[in-house]
Amino acid sequence: MTVLVTGATGSVGRLLIDTLLARGESVRAITRTPDTAALPDAVEVVGGDLSIPGGVPGAAFTGVDRAFVFPAAGVDAFVDDAVEHGVEKFVVLSSLAAAQEFPRDVGSASQVHHSAVESAVTERTDNWTILRPGTFAANLLSWAWSIRSGAPIRAPYVRSAQAPIHEADVADAAVAALTDDRWIGQAVALSGPRSLTRTQQVEALGAGLGRALTLVEISPDEFRAETAQFLDDGILRMLLDYWRDTVEVPDAVRPGVADLTGRPGRTLEQWARDHRADFGVEIRSSGIAPR
Ligand SMILES: NC(=O)c1ccc[n+]([C@@H]2O[C@H](COP(=O)([O-])OP(=O)(O)OC[C@H]3O[C@@H](n4cnc5c(N)ncnc54)[C@H](OP(=O)(O)O)[C@@H]3O)[C@@H](O)[C@H]2O)c1
Repeated sequence: MTVLVTGATGSVGRLLIDTLLARGESVRAITRTPDTAALPDAVEVVGGDLSIPGGVPGAAFTGVDRAFVFPAAGVDAFVDDAVEHGVEKFVVLSSLAAAQEFPRDVGSASQVHHSAVESAVTERTDNWTILRPGTFAANLLSWAWSIRSGAPIRAPYVRSAQAPIHEADVADAAVAALTDDRWIGQAVALSGPRSLTRTQQVEALGAGLGRALTLVEISPDEFRAETAQFLDDGILRMLLDYWRDTVEVPDAVRPGVADLTGRPGRTLEQWARDHRADFGVEIRSSGIAPR
């Protein structure tokens, strides 16, 4: 049987594909740019858009029994088509915001978006697993320019603590959910293995990159002024609410990665090592390090 992977060219989907292929699974990938997508030769690449009704051709579902659902806006018609064509099991990439554990989540841009994606699946089938990662370590790529240029990192709420997750752990959790039926009907919260203040996150990046990094605390207003031209207002508000809240209540480490994969998640130092090139640090080996 074949696994249909959406979000296949993304940071999670790309790693998910490598692991599925290594396990001997047959993979079909959906991308909006099939002619230029850099995917392994063993993958059957199909052009499609999840957000357009009928945007994924029916032939994409032939012989597919499991699908990884990237949370694109308006996936309802895609899920309808998949169910109609006999796809039996869905693993959904969502977000911890959809769990609405904190008042800040309710009505946030992420909660509204991801709850709609979850409903698109759970209203159409009972055969689902939802993955709800908290903050991605990859969000720290927003510091890449400072680190590359040797400038201090400027950040508000440096005493707030989060548990950033490596995208490879999200991918590994997805592989487990796709290949093991024990997780059907469960929404699994995922995080990195340690809750770290933003000051400690800078230290972890420095350790992983082999660089001494400097952090300068700025006020929320300064952050707003410096980033308003790059960030949507709803996202900016969501980030500031999150960092403000996690000063008093640090992000909890979630057992989801260990539960699903049977091993602890990758550290932030490891994530930084895997992303040296993104921070302008010379690479001596390539790719995400094997466990
Ligand atoms: N950042 C966080 O802290 C965080 C936390 C929790 C959850 N998340 C979730 O994780 C997602 C990011 O995952 P990622 O890093 O793997 O993504 P990514 O690297 O940003 O890549 C996005 C992928 O989605 C595909 N895609 C987007 N819209 C599509 C559409 N309409 N039709 C078909 N494919 C579409 C793209 O495919 P093509 O361009 O090839 O078509 C691409 O493969 C976020 O969007 C969010 O939903 C993020």
